[in-house]
Amino acid sequence: MSGSGNIIKGVILAGGLGSRLMPLTKVTNKHLLPIFQKPMIHYPLECLVKGGVKDVLIVTGGDSAGHFLRLLGSGSDFGARIYYAYQQGEGGIADALRLAEAFIAGDRVAVVLGDNILQRSIKPSVDRFLAQSSGARILLKEVPDPQRFGVAEVKGDEVVGIVEKPKQPKSNLAVTGIYFYDAQVFDIIRTLQPSGRGELEITDVNNAYLAKRQLQWDRVEGWWSDAGTFESLYKASTLVRDGGANLD
Ligand code: DAU
Repeated sequence: MSGSGNIIKGVILAGGLGSRLMPLTKVTNKHLLPIFQKPMIHYPLECLVKGGVKDVLIVTGGDSAGHFLRLLGSGSDFGARIYYAYQQGEGGIADALRLAEAFIAGDRVAVVLGDNILQRSIKPSVDRFLAQSSGARILLKEVPDPQRFGVAEVKGDEVVGIVEKPKQPKSNLAVTGIYFYDAQVFDIIRTLQPSGRGELEITDVNNAYLAKRQLQWDRVEGWWSDAGTFESLYKASTLVRDGGANLD
């Protein structure tokens, strides 16, 4: 059954050009590169499955899209049912998410950016999100280099603003690439205009929920890393090797 509002499906966003990782990404997709002993895309997939989200749409793009099918197939080896969508060009994270509307079909969605890796399970956040009557939930994490991320300003228990890659961040709380939304997200995306970098920004989606006072948040337990730069790709491999990605 779909559209009941309390079913949660997963979306992994694995499009984009990976231009910050050239020439590693010249003939392959960033999310197929290794993080220690596995291709990057395995981590967000395991993150969703172990969080209890088994129906997963992978949005990818570029010339290597077919390699995701060869690598992951139906998803049965991972305990998932995997579906695929193709993003033409690089219109941004919210543009990639837009492609999931028919798949989500009125249900709720857990979105994981394909280059985000977490040490611990997201299950507690999934449960808290499903206990919300509506709205969105984001995961925040203290980082030493907030300028690289969406940055949340928090007053008391509430997020009061999010700025994408601020030059002068108001906190050290990065918005990680794990987002929970109700089906309103697709109406919100339809209202967005491209940012200065020509993309539909996920930060604008989160600020739209904030303006409706429908944005909740959790702090990430354990380590979290993206892997979209040489430094973070290297760091993510080291974290996995030394600290494991214990997603149970
Ligand atoms: O990692 C968390 C950060 O991710 C957040 O703090 C930022 O608010 C958010 O904008 C994003 O920042 P990045 O600049 O690091 O995003 P990036 O362009 O590297 O894209 C992250 C993933 O999103 C990428 O691995 C694949 C997917 N993506 C991205 C674009 C631009 C797509 O699927 N399609 C796209 O068009």
